[in-house]
Amino acid sequence: MKAKSICFFNNKGGVGKTTLVANLAAELAINHKKKILLIDADPQCNLTQYMLQDDEYIQEYQKDDPMTVYSVIHPLSIGKGYKEDLPIRRSINFHCDVIIGDPRLAMKEDLLSQDWRDARAGGTRGLRTTLVFLDLLKKAEDYDYVFFDMGPSLGAINRAILLVSDYFILPATIDIFSKWAISNIGTALNTWQKDLEHGLKNAEDPSELPIQSGKKVKFLGYVMQQHKERSKGDSVRMVEAYNTISIQFPAIIEHTFKKIYAKSELITNLGEIKHLASLAPKSQSTHTPMISVVAKGSYTTTRKSAREIFGLLALNFIKNIAY
Ligand SMILES: Nc1ncnc2c1ncn2[C@@H]1O[C@H](COP(=O)(O)OP(=O)(O)O)[C@@H](O)[C@H]1O
Ligand SMILES: [Mg+2]
Repeated sequence: MKAKSICFFNNKGGVGKTTLVANLAAELAINHKKKILLIDADPQCNLTQYMLQDDEYIQEYQKDDPMTVYSVIHPLSIGKGYKEDLPIRRSINFHCDVIIGDPRLAMKEDLLSQDWRDARAGGTRGLRTTLVFLDLLKKAEDYDYVFFDMGPSLGAINRAILLVSDYFILPATIDIFSKWAISNIGTALNTWQKDLEHGLKNAEDPSELPIQSGKKVKFLGYVMQQHKERSKGDSVRMVEAYNTISIQFPAIIEHTFKKIYAKSELITNLGEIKHLASLAPKSQSTHTPMISVVAKGSYTTTRKSAREIFGLLALNFIKNIAY
């Protein structure tokens, strides 16, 4: 089996990336029996804090050399092979495996961005560090899906992930700022792919590289999040002010990503995750996916919504990822 790698990215912060990654993974694992590995590639480590119990990751961070995503990337990025198995942990509640995040990952930004210049010129060292996440993915081939949660920047780590992932999902909040963020991603991605292709074509020693031509990330769709809905009788609809902006999304998405759609007839709107009120913090403090939160009162209604929302989202995800 060859795992499909999917990165969830928006260079705008706080759009709900981590919440989406963790809860979609849980839905796919629990209700579709998918085998999923999540990689926390955000130096803020929010995914780790969400999916594992406090004592599990605190104990690891207290060690001199914690086993994290950094432990995998670091030896490779300085030219040493990584022989050990991946440092994988189990999130019991989310039914998924996790490679925990690491604040030290932020230090890799400098190294990766220095090496990018070398990569573009075809340098072996630069190309190898740029493609560092490929080695990690190779070790994770037994999974159905590998999900990357990423920090909000167009920096070197995120570039390295976007350049080696099979698919890309865009989580977005419905605001005018997202419109700009989307076109920035489109421009950056285009330039990066061209530059990498140029570097690979002019590689000083292609036999030293894990790939000889660039992988092209495909766009799988977008997810609109955290808006308010209003119900009238039997019908539920997005509150007007959000709707005014959201109706512009399909055209912006098509304009920006059409060339990299996973299929030409792609339905790009994977789903809409309305604001689920206190179910979000409740799910965080219990380290439990929203669909499995055990609580009474108003949580019963929001949990039911979460089950409908993530149920649909997972079906659309599976539909879009099928060739
Ligand atoms: N559907 C939702 N309903 C309510 N709160 C949400 C929802 N999605 C995200 N949040 C909240 O918004 C904040 C940002 O979400 P997060 O997933 O951390 O975003 P990002 O990873 O993009 O920074 C968090 O406090 C989270 O609890
Ligand atoms: Mg996050």
